[in-house]
Amino acid sequence: MPVITNIDDLKRIYARRVPKMFYDYAESGSWTEQTFRENTTDFDQIRLRQRVAVDMAGRSTASHMIGQEVAMPVALAPVGLTGMQCADGEIKAARAAEAFGVPFTLSTMSINSIEDVAEATTKPFWFQLYTMKDEDYTRRLIDRAKAANCSALVITLDLQILGQRHKDLKNGLSAPPKLTPKTIANLMTKWSWGIGMLGAKRRHFGNIVGHVDGISDASSLSAWTAEQFDLTLDWDKIAKLKEIWGGKVILKGILDEEDARMAAKVGADAITVSNHGGRQLDGALSSIRMLPRIMDAVGDQVEVHLDSGIRSGQDVLKALALGATGTMIGRAFVYGLGAMGQPGVTRALEVIHKELDVSMALCGEKSVTKLGRHNLLVPEDFTGRWA
Ligand SMILES: Cc1cc2nc3c(=O)[nH]c(=O)nc-3n(C[C@H](O)[C@H](O)[C@H](O)COP(=O)(O)O)c2cc1C
Repeated sequence: MPVITNIDDLKRIYARRVPKMFYDYAESGSWTEQTFRENTTDFDQIRLRQRVAVDMAGRSTASHMIGQEVAMPVALAPVGLTGMQCADGEIKAARAAEAFGVPFTLSTMSINSIEDVAEATTKPFWFQLYTMKDEDYTRRLIDRAKAANCSALVITLDLQILGQRHKDLKNGLSAPPKLTPKTIANLMTKWSWGIGMLGAKRRHFGNIVGHVDGISDASSLSAWTAEQFDLTLDWDKIAKLKEIWGGKVILKGILDEEDARMAAKVGADAITVSNHGGRQLDGALSSIRMLPRIMDAVGDQVEVHLDSGIRSGQDVLKALALGATGTMIGRAFVYGLGAMGQPGVTRALEVIHKELDVSMALCGEKSVTKLGRHNLLVPEDFTGRWA
């Protein structure tokens, strides 16, 4: 067993174990990938302020996200097709998150269904909703999430239309994979992934197949999903969804101050500052660069979380110090899952936790809830450069 000391170690194993089409699916951004790249490189521009001779005994990374206790303010982000990265991937990731004491978010486009994950876990998880044109289906999804005792509805707002990822088109990405000679050749080199998949509970989208009339196979499914995302989603509809749900709502995919104000106005319990991991609007600024502006606009009105680009505990620390109350990780946990299944997700969380805890101590802080702008050195033009 290799010694895993950081998220990049997991990524290297992940790249070897998972079929190319699913590696590319996770490891891509839209179009030129500028936003995807800057999500990580912008974190590097922010530096931490080292402090010494400060009592660092009795530290804690514990905090709250939307009123829920968390071992550290890092939730697993909703990631579609997680169950294609590793057999029963959503169940394994949810179990790892539960054991660690952080929230897991199940994507609408997951392989394991809401019910599968509810059965396999004991604590409530979050459910991420894509709103569909078929309003009855959207309503049924919400009802299923309620029946599964999900503790938050995460409504994703930045994917009503799909940003283009070149590799997905070239690879013919689908669940289960399209079997071209090239795909078969690649799959044959990924035997441990394949053996796992043979025993998987599901290989289709578990929240859709069997829940929509006429969807039974891969081709009817892809035709349905391609035309189902609701292009007319607006703030009135979001307010209505919030009412139907009746519980905690997180609005995910906010990257602009005006939208953040609207999200606060419709009564969101939290917003996630996110550009979908650089997978949607290529050319948008990174989440971390937009965070200070959004904090200025709504930081006193709504809880603010951040994702996109987090690959370490130091990145989490920077987001918290710039005002976020919580963060989400996408690829960082997917690497762990694809590399080693459930223990890999646990390892990803352990790595990030240790980096967060030790860096916090070296910044002279004892609690993540006390982190602030005073812990950072930020270039003067970090937020002001873009008008
Ligand atoms: C492979 C992949 C699939 C994703 N699928 C979804 C999804 O189904 N729903 C959603 O709201 N966000 C989805 N996202 C976006 C993540 O929730 C999150 O915003 C993003 O991964 C954060 O960036 P990071 O990967 O750099 O941490 C996906 C991201 C990736 C990488």
